[in-house]
Amino acid sequence: MLDSKLTFIATAAAGLEGLCKRELLRLGFADARAELGSVRFTATLTEAFRACLWLSCADRVLLVMAEGECRSFEALFQLVKAAPWSEVLPRDAAMPVSGRCARSQLMSVRDCQAITKKALVEHMMGAYRTGTLPETGPRYQVDTALHHDMARVTLDLCGDALNRRGYRTWNGEAPLRETAAAALVTLSGWRGDTPLHDPCCGTGTLLIEAAFRAARRAPGLTRAFDAERWTGMDTAALREIREDAKKQYDPALIPSVSGSDISQEALTLARRHIRQAGLEGKIRVFREDLRDLSLAEENICFLTNPPYGERLGDRKQCESLYRQMKPLLLRHPGSRLCVITSHPGFERVAGLRARKKTRLYNGRLECNFMRF
Ligand SMILES: C[S@@+](CC[C@H](N)C(=O)[O-])C[C@H]1O[C@@H](n2cnc3c(N)ncnc32)[C@H](O)[C@@H]1O
Repeated sequence: MLDSKLTFIATAAAGLEGLCKRELLRLGFADARAELGSVRFTATLTEAFRACLWLSCADRVLLVMAEGECRSFEALFQLVKAAPWSEVLPRDAAMPVSGRCARSQLMSVRDCQAITKKALVEHMMGAYRTGTLPETGPRYQVDTALHHDMARVTLDLCGDALNRRGYRTWNGEAPLRETAAAALVTLSGWRGDTPLHDPCCGTGTLLIEAAFRAARRAPGLTRAFDAERWTGMDTAALREIREDAKKQYDPALIPSVSGSDISQEALTLARRHIRQAGLEGKIRVFREDLRDLSLAEENICFLTNPPYGERLGDRKQCESLYRQMKPLLLRHPGSRLCVITSHPGFERVAGLRARKKTRLYNGRLECNFMRF
């Protein structure tokens, strides 16, 4: 089974499924198909590991082990028990089970987890002809998700979610998730051939993701994935995929990428993250109020996640900042601005009309990403 084509799901935040699908197509997964909150594709486990390493805006890559309608615990039990667990999991696999239920008859997450575990253990004991499963081996995270009475039982290849690139260990206030930041870099249309500046850079996430993109750095290059420790994986092939990604990474391709912020604490975090991302000397950050910002470069792509007036500061303060966006553009002729905010009146307050708008979520907040 490990060498055959299997079905995978790359999960993504609402609004990012299309981008995630495009990334998968570009990586060569020709049958990638967007669904609500995820993209489905077929691949071998080795190929799916490449997706883990390279996807920039997906949250997780999951191997689908079973899917079907479940309106009773018995149906869920039978569905899980019949899945080919022992073809993937070794006898000593650690098998934690997580779960989610929405709009279904089975709404107790705890019970669904317990039923899944019971069925899985019964399958494994039967397949390995044993009365004990030590669970001392590599981790195979199982997840049972019920939605509209359809159960999807998966194995998580990632371990930590894909936004954990390994560089962000200190969180500032209202930071953007790495996966969301990578999506904004894509949506901005920036191709890495002009300067990029974030005038409200906070802890530097947008800058780091932009620099990674310009340098062709696989987002997961320096982190580990659970699937790399799975029994029976083709370790030579996985090593080759990592080596190829290392070869493609070229920091010399990074053009001028810089950021500024009014908060010294945020900048301290940004510098730490930049260092941890291995980008010291490649990204410049400095303290400056957006109102006073004036850069020597031309053709700048200003890409930013300013305060929304919901989580940081009050609305009036953030609106006074929005009013400074147009003067910022006027001070930098030939430059463009890309902004994400949940404030519905950004265009009116800033006196700017978006050329393009995309609706997406930053955490739980519904936002617009606008290009000017
Ligand atoms: C939502 S946070 C940005 C988060 C950032 N994208 C990250 O991932 O950490 C907004 C940032 O705008 C900064 N800010 C607020 N008013 C500003 C001003 N007048 N000039 C520059 N930065 C400002 C805040 O200090 C804060 O770091």
